[in-house]
Amino acid sequence: MGIITDIPGLRIRQLSPADAQELSYIELQIFPTPWSENSLRSCLELSNVDGEAALVDDSIIGYFFAQYAADEAHILNVGIIKDYRRMGIATFLLERFIKRAKAYGAETCYLEVRSGNRSAQQMYFNQGFMPVSVRKQYYPNGEDAIILMKQL
Ligand SMILES: CC(C)(COP(=O)(O)OP(=O)(O)OC[C@H]1O[C@@H](n2cnc3c(N)ncnc32)[C@H](O)[C@@H]1OP(=O)(O)O)[C@@H](O)C(=O)NCCC(=O)NCCS
Repeated sequence: MGIITDIPGLRIRQLSPADAQELSYIELQIFPTPWSENSLRSCLELSNVDGEAALVDDSIIGYFFAQYAADEAHILNVGIIKDYRRMGIATFLLERFIKRAKAYGAETCYLEVRSGNRSAQQMYFNQGFMPVSVRKQYYPNGEDAIILMKQL
């Protein structure tokens, strides 16, 4: 994995509802069932949603957002545009989130991932997430969701 500081001009900032349109364009490129601009905006307006963007030259090249509920954190989405993958950016955003979630008081972190999405699963396994259950045919194409969990 490349060292994050090797990426010229990379900076990280908090996501805001104003990012919804830019994120929706990225979603269309990288997800089979992308979030719409409106769903993204509504989600990022919630006070219990926490997310960050990775930017190069003022363009978002990756993002991560999650939601807190009681003592749980639920990762909602993470995406990195193709040209910037395998450089450690998603792991970097995830590690930063785990620190914030602990500071917030979350005790467990959950997420759903497509059963066929081996790259994302491997990234989460590397960070200590474990499979805890399967939601059959969770996605519109009939694919199962694997529920991953990490004790924080
Ligand atoms: C999954 C995704 C977010 C990973 O982002 P990334 O910045 O490339 O991830 P990292 O560079 O931090 O990779 C971390 C580890 O994940 C695993 N991994 C990531 N991409 C992989 C791939 N294409 N094949 C195999 N393993 C992969 C590797 O173990 C990698 O560590 P390594 O590079 O030291 O081998 C990115 O591929 C993506 O945006 N995919 C499309 C959207 C998506 O699937 N989101 C997840 C929804 S749950």
